[in-house]
Amino acid sequence: MIVRPKIELYAEEHTSPPSPLLARVAAATRSTMDRPEMMIGPVEGALLAMLVAMVRPRRILEIGTFTGYSALAMAEAMPAECGIVTLEADARIAGIARDNFAASPYADRIEVREGPALKTLPELDERFELVFLDADRPSYISYLDAVLPLLGERGFIVVDNALQFAITPDPEEAAAVHAFNAHVAGRADLVQVLLTIRAGVTVIRRSGP
Ligand SMILES: C[S@@+](CC[C@H](N)C(=O)[O-])C[C@H]1O[C@@H](n2cnc3c(N)ncnc32)[C@H](O)[C@@H]1O
Repeated sequence: MIVRPKIELYAEEHTSPPSPLLARVAAATRSTMDRPEMMIGPVEGALLAMLVAMVRPRRILEIGTFTGYSALAMAEAMPAECGIVTLEADARIAGIARDNFAASPYADRIEVREGPALKTLPELDERFELVFLDADRPSYISYLDAVLPLLGERGFIVVDNALQFAITPDPEEAAAVHAFNAHVAGRADLVQVLLTIRAGVTVIRRSGP
């Protein structure tokens, strides 16, 4: 976390709280998973929900499902006709996410696609108005390249862990995230804002009005 714990707590206390469903998934994730910190948490979840309410996407794509907290946070705010496709490489984790989705009101509107995202992405034949990228950092530039052809004209890509290099002990991961940020900042066809929320969240869209 890049924000001081006291400030993070204050932000959490003054952000709409997670629903009972999200609170349940978060508690189960914390008590059963090896790395529960991979889950986005309440403030970023509320940010995603707010973005979904603003953008009102027809389709949402997520790369990096984990136990499903972020997908459910978006699902709770999505319009009635909207659905989510979420990509997860790990079969065991995908099973846990599927169970969490099955126990939610969004079972038939969230599809988990199992397998490495770079293999799944070229198989997708639809447009997404909102993409949440939250998987293995070294592939971020490749994900961007694979996602842009799937992104609606006025679509948005939300990228998690954009400031991960400020907290990770892994120099390779730090370098990969920095290379991604520099790549995005250097592209004239994209505009972006890097928010200092949690481990950093960048929101990207195509440039132009
Ligand atoms: C940071 S977690 C996602 C957290 C989730 N968005 C949430 O807030 O609950 C990253 C997830 O991406 C998955 N992952 C890692 N490499 C992947 C890949 N190449 N393709 C798809 N998923 C991958 C991991 O197994 C892990 O579950």
